[in-house]
Amino acid sequence: MPAIVLIGAQWGDEGKGKATDLLGSRVDYVVKFNGGNNAGHTVVVGDEKYALHLLPSGILSPGVTPVIANGVVVDVEVLFEELDALSERGVDVSRLKVSLNAHVITAYHRTLDKVTERFLGKRQIGTTGRGIGPAYADKINRVGIRVQDLFDENILRQKVEGALDQKNHMLVKVYNRRAIEVEEIVTELLSYAERLRPMVTDTALLLHQALNDGKTVLFEGGQATMLDVDHGTYPFVTSSNATSGGAVTGSGIAPNRIDRVIGVVKAYTTRVGSGPFPTELSDESGEYLRVNGFEFGTTTGRPRRCGWYDAPIARYTARINGVTDFVLTKLDVLTGLAEIPVCVAYSVDGVRVDEVPVSQSDFHHATPIYENFPGWTEDITGVRTFEELPQAAQNYVLALESMSGSRVSAIGVGPDREAIVVRHDLID
Ligand code: GDP
Ligand code: IMO
Ligand code: MG
Repeated sequence: MPAIVLIGAQWGDEGKGKATDLLGSRVDYVVKFNGGNNAGHTVVVGDEKYALHLLPSGILSPGVTPVIANGVVVDVEVLFEELDALSERGVDVSRLKVSLNAHVITAYHRTLDKVTERFLGKRQIGTTGRGIGPAYADKINRVGIRVQDLFDENILRQKVEGALDQKNHMLVKVYNRRAIEVEEIVTELLSYAERLRPMVTDTALLLHQALNDGKTVLFEGGQATMLDVDHGTYPFVTSSNATSGGAVTGSGIAPNRIDRVIGVVKAYTTRVGSGPFPTELSDESGEYLRVNGFEFGTTTGRPRRCGWYDAPIARYTARINGVTDFVLTKLDVLTGLAEIPVCVAYSVDGVRVDEVPVSQSDFHHATPIYENFPGWTEDITGVRTFEELPQAAQNYVLALESMSGSRVSAIGVGPDREAIVVRHDLID
């Protein structure tokens, strides 16, 4: 039985939540392996709309065991709030498992996220302000607090002291803020321990055993390839590995156990926050995509930057992640456009470039070379087979498929759970 990784192919918000939900009823475990509550996944089930941040979207499927693995940074207060909100709406959250090795986001991480952004001024990244970057920085600096530390008061106090030692100097002397009290943090973190205890475990071992027992495990990436700290548009990225390699290090499951890598890609492109975006539109076409695609952030409510589909990015994503199948989402949003431009390559200082340039400056200078495809006017939200799509929509999908380095196995035609055209089974 397979281990499947599902990742974002662009700059996030491709519809990973909906794609996970699509597979949900057929998988046994859904694992979040990177990021934290910077993610925002909207899943529409009938008349109900769910916005998930820290929890993997698989939590909405009855019978699935959701797992927050070691690669995640956990804001425990947010975790409890999300669990409570879902319980109140009748979602069974009792199976959730949380890794003892996952790192914890504390009040000082949130504070530092905000003050460092403010100090960057024009160079700011436009983070979600949730403390993600500072929590991962502490992990790499070996001064992080892990979930397991919440169960040993002495160790916890020592670690918080160690973490705050330098930070308080910075907060007071550089950022002109008040120092943070060790006891304030320790008391807060200890107060979470009792409720957290039944959820915590060695999730790497749990998942290893699940795969040995023939269970199906879906690894759900937060953020996306172009926001990956190694392979994205650094420094305008998040602080984790959002690519398929991150599913391995972020969960403790070996690479040779992974059978399938699903890339979720929008039929156009969006981005939230700063950084290069070659196909970005600042005219009425961009507004058309924003309004019709309802492109406003699930986490921060910020309007998303919108642009045309970028085939070199999809090819890059296919290569970096080993994408076996693409799920192409939001095709319905393009309905009504007379012509749909697709970026097929870039021009960098007058030279045609077919691949995403490795040099940051080149990517900043890259301007898209477009090919135009005829649009369609028919409403496609009720379509459930590829053949029922208008010929122009079929041609658009086939063109993207041929340019993007992997087959398009499913196509989103609306926000609803059922609004999807499946061409190839994503599990068998
Ligand atoms: P994620 O972060 O990748 O899970 O994506 P988000 O949930 O942040 O953003 C995707 C948005 O598009 C959500 O509001 C979804 O309900 C919506 N969505 C997903 N697939 C489709 C689709 O095929 N068509 C339309 N119109 N909306 C979709
Ligand atoms: P999902 O999972 C889109 C962006 C932020 C910012 C940068 C760094 O919903 O696709 P961070 O708070 O992570 O340090 O911010 O990354 N960002 C996202 N953009 N979708 C997301 O998640 C994102 N998570 C972070 O806007 O530019
Ligand atoms: Mg999102």
